[in-house]
Amino acid sequence: MLRTFVLLSTVAILSTWAVKCKYEGTDMDNNEIITVQKAFRIKCMTEDNGSWKTEIIGCIAPDGAEIGVGLKRETGDKIHECVKSESGQVSLKESKGIKAACPGGQKNGEEWQEKSFKFRCGDGGVVKFIACVGQDGSIIKSGETGKIGGFDVKCEQHANGTITMQAANDPKSYDCKAKDGSSKKNGEEYVEGNFVRKCGDYGQGKIVGCHAENVATTIPINQNVTSGDVVFSCTKEGSNYSFKTYSLKSPVVYSMCAHEGKQYTNGTTFISQGSFRMRCVTFKNLTSTLEVVSCITPAGVEIAIGSQLEEGDKVYECTSGNVTLKSTPGQSGKCRGTYSVGEEWIEDSFKLTCEPYGKVNLKSCFSKEGTEIPLGEARRVPAGYAMECVIVNGNVALQTAKNFDCLTGSGENKKMGETWNEGNFVRRCANYGVSSIIGCYVDGVGTFGLNQNITSGSLLYMCINENEQFKFRTLRAQ
Ligand SMILES: *[C@@H]1O[C@H](CO)[C@@H](O)[C@H](O)[C@H]1NC(C)=O
Ligand SMILES: *[C@@H]1O[C@H](CO)[C@@H](O)[C@H](O)[C@H]1NC(C)=O
Ligand SMILES: *[C@@H]1O[C@H](CO)[C@@H](O)[C@H](O)[C@H]1NC(C)=O
Ligand SMILES: *[C@@H]1O[C@H](CO)[C@@H](O)[C@H](O)[C@H]1NC(C)=O
Ligand SMILES: *[C@@H]1O[C@H](CO)[C@@H](O)[C@H](O)[C@H]1NC(C)=O
Ligand SMILES: *[C@@H]1O[C@H](CO)[C@@H](O)[C@H](O)[C@H]1NC(C)=O
Ligand SMILES: *[C@@H]1O[C@H](CO)[C@@H](O)[C@H](O)[C@H]1NC(C)=O
Ligand SMILES: *[C@@H]1O[C@H](CO)[C@@H](O)[C@H](O)[C@H]1NC(C)=O
Repeated sequence: MLRTFVLLSTVAILSTWAVKCKYEGTDMDNNEIITVQKAFRIKCMTEDNGSWKTEIIGCIAPDGAEIGVGLKRETGDKIHECVKSESGQVSLKESKGIKAACPGGQKNGEEWQEKSFKFRCGDGGVVKFIACVGQDGSIIKSGETGKIGGFDVKCEQHANGTITMQAANDPKSYDCKAKDGSSKKNGEEYVEGNFVRKCGDYGQGKIVGCHAENVATTIPINQNVTSGDVVFSCTKEGSNYSFKTYSLKSPVVYSMCAHEGKQYTNGTTFISQGSFRMRCVTFKNLTSTLEVVSCITPAGVEIAIGSQLEEGDKVYECTSGNVTLKSTPGQSGKCRGTYSVGEEWIEDSFKLTCEPYGKVNLKSCFSKEGTEIPLGEARRVPAGYAMECVIVNGNVALQTAKNFDCLTGSGENKKMGETWNEGNFVRRCANYGVSSIIGCYVDGVGTFGLNQNITSGSLLYMCINENEQFKFRTLRAQ
């Protein structure tokens, strides 16, 4: 900012008394100072011979401070100077202070890099070029010649401001040197490890992409290329390049079964304890279990679960559920390991027989008194009632037989409910094959009930039941 003020009326005029200066119609006393345009200080100076003049003696800074002509004042990052030119022009010149920031916002003394050039924010907010930076990070100070990628390069800022980084010779004449020692021409692409480089100026190989074994083309920077189930990723982060390989296939993880110190894979089978064939079964949740798939008989024959095989005098069965190899006697196998086929024996109140395949069959029951009652039949026991040997709810039971014929004194059989005369008593066949007296009988007279009298001619017949003591009496009627 530059404010200029020219005082045009420094003309001396003759005056008689009390000389005054005139400024824009205003009278000013000698030595009086006024501010004009809020920017300049004007002083009135008179002479005794009546001449006067006004003079600019200072400037006013934007903050209101007065700065004498020819003086400077620094506030903040600004400098204000009240300058008077040879022609008498006075101006307030504003310039940046020593510590002023640069146009890009960088602080005084701060250094930064733009592309291949390094700058510093100099005093007064002036950007100073300080050095060139090579792709490999090497630095050449402004005005100097240094080495970049092994070649002499001059770094220079010209008077017109242009900065150049120039190889001492024609850049195109430089070949690039690959890691394997071979030379590459400018513009040539070559593979170095997982990267594809292109030979650029100053013999510098620039990375232009990535290289993967099974990918025919160069993988461009910041792109993914999928080949089969593999993703190749070529990335640039800052000044770093990276090449990564991702597998789309999820890793194969599986469990195995362990048994007696050995490992088995899913589906494999093996023989355990000589009696079972086991199979390893694994699950997705990485647990595993062993399954019995078949049994093996002592003779080494494998039999499926649920089946059986007769071997010698034994029958082997591979039971399901908790698989077991069950051995039972064969056709000629002994029952209870003792009794031969056909043999009979008595155990407790039962008579048993041994049948083929070790099958024990119950033949008959024995009553307390030793009466043998074949299974499914009933017999009268010495106590007088009938007992039966039956299977009740799967168990053998020796119990009283409710429905059983009664036996008359003369050895006749009578069905339940039937009545008959026996001597002078009338009997009826009741439960358990036991008959009871229900009345009396007199030949030629008929039957009559218990505790009843009957007369016939001169005779009185009495049928007596005294506490289950039955009597028949004949009296002379009175
Ligand atoms: C008046 O006096 C001053 C200083 O003494 C002198 O410079 C100036 O020329 C004089 N003016 C006249 C008109 O005499
Ligand atoms: C600046 O000066 C250099 C060296 O003298 C010159 O090569 C370049 O062309 C100039 N640039 C401009 C824009 O004038
Ligand atoms: C490349 O693939 C990786 C892994 O899937 C992913 O993180 C990355 O963002 C991908 N990049 C591009 C450019 O698609
Ligand atoms: C580049 O690599 C260097 C060294 O490995 C590391 O210090 C720096 O942080 C990396 N830069 C980026 C942007 O990843
Ligand atoms: C184990 O084998 C069975 C039968 O072949 C199969 O169904 C199952 O998925 C397999 N388990 C695992 C974890 O692969
Ligand atoms: C694993 O999977 C099997 C079959 O699906 C299941 O029976 C078993 O309980 C599972 N085990 C666990 C620990 O989740
Ligand atoms: C299998 O054996 C276990 C443990 O001995 C028992 O708890 C289970 O009831 C058995 N299962 C069958 C079907 O017999
Ligand atoms: C049967 O006769 C006897 C002897 O006379 C007598 O005591 C009894 O009461 C009579 N009974 C009936 C039921 O009449």
